[in-house]
Amino acid sequence: MISQTWKIMALLPILAAVAFLLFDIPFKPSVNQCTLYPYSHYWIGSKRIVTPKGVISGAVEIKGGKIVSVLHEDQWQKDVRSVQIIDYGNAVIMPGLVDVHAHLDDPGREEWEGFPSGTRAAVAGGITTLIDMPLNSFPSTVSEETLGLKLQAAAGRIYVDVGFWGGLVPENALNASALEGLLKAGALGLKSFMCPSGINDFPMTDIGHIKEGLLVLAKYKRPLLVHAEIPQDDGVNLENKDDADDVRSYNVYLKSRPASWEEAAIKALLTVSKDTRTGGPAEGAHLHIVHLSDARSSLELIKEAKKSGDSVTVETCPHYLAFSAEEIPDGDTRFKCAPPIRDAANKEKLWAALTDGDIDMLSSDHSPSVPELKLFSEGDFLRAWGGISSLQFVLPVTWSYGQKYGITLAQLASWWSEKPAKLAGLSLKGAISIGYQADFVVWEPEAEFHLDENHPIYHRHPNISAYIGSRLSGKVLATFVKGNLVFKEGNHALPCGSPILATA
Ligand SMILES: *[C@@H]1O[C@H](CO)[C@@H](O)[C@H](O)[C@H]1NC(C)=O
Ligand SMILES: *[C@@H]1O[C@H](CO)[C@@H](O)[C@H](O)[C@H]1NC(C)=O
Ligand SMILES: [Zn+2]
Repeated sequence: MISQTWKIMALLPILAAVAFLLFDIPFKPSVNQCTLYPYSHYWIGSKRIVTPKGVISGAVEIKGGKIVSVLHEDQWQKDVRSVQIIDYGNAVIMPGLVDVHAHLDDPGREEWEGFPSGTRAAVAGGITTLIDMPLNSFPSTVSEETLGLKLQAAAGRIYVDVGFWGGLVPENALNASALEGLLKAGALGLKSFMCPSGINDFPMTDIGHIKEGLLVLAKYKRPLLVHAEIPQDDGVNLENKDDADDVRSYNVYLKSRPASWEEAAIKALLTVSKDTRTGGPAEGAHLHIVHLSDARSSLELIKEAKKSGDSVTVETCPHYLAFSAEEIPDGDTRFKCAPPIRDAANKEKLWAALTDGDIDMLSSDHSPSVPELKLFSEGDFLRAWGGISSLQFVLPVTWSYGQKYGITLAQLASWWSEKPAKLAGLSLKGAISIGYQADFVVWEPEAEFHLDENHPIYHRHPNISAYIGSRLSGKVLATFVKGNLVFKEGNHALPCGSPILATA
């Protein structure tokens, strides 16, 4: 019996090889549940492929999860005779989005979001990589041990590749061995706050902590991301307001966190960002300012620092580009975030800074909570959770609101893929180029839809978002992560994303 079985088994590969040679049967493994398109070597084609060398009509060859060739139309019609081509026609094939700023709140606050729901929403929106923030989960990611808890929570539950920022907090900032432990364990960089974070176990840092942190980061060539607001005396103090009208007023909330808070923080940061210059004590480290809202003095300061050679970048988020203070209804705390969404003229300046290249990139700052906290006491801006839910919508939102400013597909790919991948140190992500990982979003920029309760939304709390009710343009057809088709027209494959850990 045994020897019979062995003989048959030994013959199988030979029979398979003969069958392959005789009939040229394409390699087709048994259905891999990590992918809705079960080929490991195939092409995807379209008339609009966004590459670093321009938008081309052609095809991308994918093998073993990587891009092995990028062919112009005239080449691929001739060379590619296989049936393993997905032809997307006139749809756009772009590098998958890399969101460097998302709060998935897992472990510990899964009722706010969670790895499965958050990353399901991400792929449905064309995001193929996201970097999870170290706070709003419990515990915060501030040590090697707590990073280990993140990895445990993410195992087998993520649809996209997920990296992790560690937290720079007073407890570890002056302790180089603690920070090194966190960086050696794979944190892609660190994040800190210059104002209270809203979460008690993630305390704020001062400029001294930041200066020390940069010295450690320099050794590992990783960035520090900073929430740049320092409370000043000029803000309306909402804590002292007991008038119900005042706490429901968006304008009062806006005045409680004026632009001077961002300006003060950035001024302070520039006293240490010079350490990152060539030859400086923190050469190799990098300072990244998250979610800039003030496009006036704060932006001017950042431009000066860049000119002086400081290693500095800055991001803003779609909600600052889509909305303006004037149109936010009183009591509608879905729009509460910090720093706040400012006036319409500021929004115009943000767009100008983005299109001029003074703002480097975009991120979602997806930061949901449970409905009881977000919609607190029917519109109390003082006590409602500050954070906007947006992960699934950032691509159509950026594109739709950007129409007025004539933005291009190449700009989208730069703001949402190339620059963020570079910030996070992901050298094989963020572009459709040979050797890169096959992370793509395939979408129809011209397809319009109404984002209402009937739209399939995969966030943990689908209907609590400032974007519900918008008419948007840009429909995601398919999303590929490392060559796996993980989302296609409302269908998800299994969660086979990988954690991303920094090495060396
Ligand atoms: C620094 O961190 C290490 C590792 O987490 C810890 O063992 C040590 O006690 C800390 N040192 C101080 C002075 O807090
Ligand atoms: C969201 O959906 C839930 C459950 O379907 C419903 O109870 C709630 O009223 C909705 N909230 C909003 C803001 O639409
Ligand atoms: Zn955030």
